[in-house]
Amino acid sequence: MSFVSNLDRLLVLDLVRVTEAAAVSAAKMVGRGDEKAADAAAVDAMRRALNKMDIQGRVVIGEGERDEAPMLYIGEEVGSGNGPKVDIALDPLEGTTIAAKAMQNSLAVIAIAEEGQLLNAPDVYMDKIAVGPGLKKGIVDLDMTTEENIKAVANAKGCSVHDILVCVLDRPRHAKLIGEIRDVGARVKLIGDGDVAGVIDTTNPETSVDIYMGSGGAPEGVLAAAALRCIGGQMQGRLIFRNDDERARAYKWGITDLNRKYSTEEMASGDVIFAATGVTDGYLLRGVHKTVNGKGYTTESVVMRSKTGTVRWVKGEHHNNYKKE
Ligand code: FBP
Repeated sequence: MSFVSNLDRLLVLDLVRVTEAAAVSAAKMVGRGDEKAADAAAVDAMRRALNKMDIQGRVVIGEGERDEAPMLYIGEEVGSGNGPKVDIALDPLEGTTIAAKAMQNSLAVIAIAEEGQLLNAPDVYMDKIAVGPGLKKGIVDLDMTTEENIKAVANAKGCSVHDILVCVLDRPRHAKLIGEIRDVGARVKLIGDGDVAGVIDTTNPETSVDIYMGSGGAPEGVLAAAALRCIGGQMQGRLIFRNDDERARAYKWGITDLNRKYSTEEMASGDVIFAATGVTDGYLLRGVHKTVNGKGYTTESVVMRSKTGTVRWVKGEHHNNYKKE
């Protein structure tokens, strides 16, 4: 069953409730230096909110495999059991370290799609490259050199390579990539964590980010692809396997071509809805804050849908819902 007509409208709003709930719960743990507790708070709240939705949901990107994650594990069925069958990719707290340190850009994130339309990516690394909307398809490619990718984007944007800003996760493994970017003359924006927001930043001129490059989590790659399907832009991802255990995980989820390059559409196809709520302040979204009277919480969320391209920015004031938590 496809989620057409009025039902999807409800799903759009319901999804915001889900990320809001996760964000508000996680926000109470922001700055406490306890990544696990922050994540657990977000997971618990997201799961409860998801189970109120009228869907027959199956988690395809979640907190891990069943034996390692008690809640929102891959394969877990969520929702009331009524309504459309949907596959769900989620990250109740994207940027656990950021949240624990009260730094910028942590989010509660979710994407839903019709059954079978999201890549069942194992929890391994993924090499990623992404650009925002308005550029010809295939302008960047994981098989092109760093220089070729940067020059292609600069040409298409009619600017010098010196103006190009590339967002990269600040990791020792990216030393070579960062050197290559600077050798071409382009600039690097290093982020400590949170590459879902990093990829989405390519779609937002206010961030000045032109390209996202480098490796990060494959689950985060699928979530970012889901967002780009809705908001525009393009991304490629290729799974990285460091050992036999990781290769075995891929085979388990039906991936046989380990060198495959996935396009945005191959990671998230069909009718996709993506929602995120800020946990801490960031370029994309403001984080959770106390209301003026100090008794409730304000949230900022975005929800978007690939079918229509509609992007909604939702500001919430929550006075009672979270009182008992
Ligand atoms: P968590 O929320 O799971 O901590 O992920 C944060 C993150 O920065 C992701 O955005 C990114 O994809 C991944 O970690 C990168 O992994 P690593 O920290 O191992 O380089």
